[in-house]
Amino acid sequence: MNIKWDANKYTEDFSFVHQYGNSVIELIDADEGSSVLDLGCGNGALAKALQDKGYRVKGLDASEELLGIAKGKYPTIEFLHGDSTDFTLSEPVDVVFSNAVFHWINRDGQMNMLQCVHNALKKRGQFVFEFGGHGNNQKIHGALTRAFSEYGYCYEMPFYFPTIGEYAVLLEKTGFEVHFAALFDRLTGLKGESGLKDWINMFVKTPFSVVKTEQEKAEIVDKAVEALRNDLFINGKWYADYVRIRMKAVRL
Ligand code: BEZ
Repeated sequence: MNIKWDANKYTEDFSFVHQYGNSVIELIDADEGSSVLDLGCGNGALAKALQDKGYRVKGLDASEELLGIAKGKYPTIEFLHGDSTDFTLSEPVDVVFSNAVFHWINRDGQMNMLQCVHNALKKRGQFVFEFGGHGNNQKIHGALTRAFSEYGYCYEMPFYFPTIGEYAVLLEKTGFEVHFAALFDRLTGLKGESGLKDWINMFVKTPFSVVKTEQEKAEIVDKAVEALRNDLFINGKWYADYVRIRMKAVRL
């Protein structure tokens, strides 16, 4: 997973990502002083929330830009540069936590990532996470698919949004026991008049690699946004049609 982030804009305009993550932390059932890895820690905001709960926290992320912010803001937390699908820890931890990361990893990468998490956990260690679940942003990706096709392009879906059943199978195959699973809608408010356009420009990058000019790219985004106005512009505010998959699994 190698994404180039506009780290400052991400931190300022998309802070809901870590704000929602606070409720995922509540699924962890571990004593103060337990060791926790925040996998895909980004700007470190949730690593800090975990530290505030009394855990000994490490964060790991592939983005140097986001890690730069994390290290500057939270100097007492150890942040490691690494890929979620190919990492090892110097010693196993009690808990692996992750928020809003795994949808960036394709189906093959998921098995590698789950094996790394399994190796990083102590026996009976907890794996607590949330990411985009089946049906996530269906309206947005549908509108982009139609706008791409009007311009003669094919929209390649860049994200992995599994069902609970599909993901539970991957977890069990890797040696986890599923203790909690939920799939739920979360209409998520976006910032400002250009909220949806900004969201697409920030998060949907790879499908646009086939689009020939910047002008066409801008037109496709505008077309998709306008097609979504009826559904996702509600009382003067833009929303994204998020669906979350939230799970807790224990390493056997
Ligand atoms: C999500 O958190 O579900 C998400 C964010 C950006 C792109 C795709 C999914």
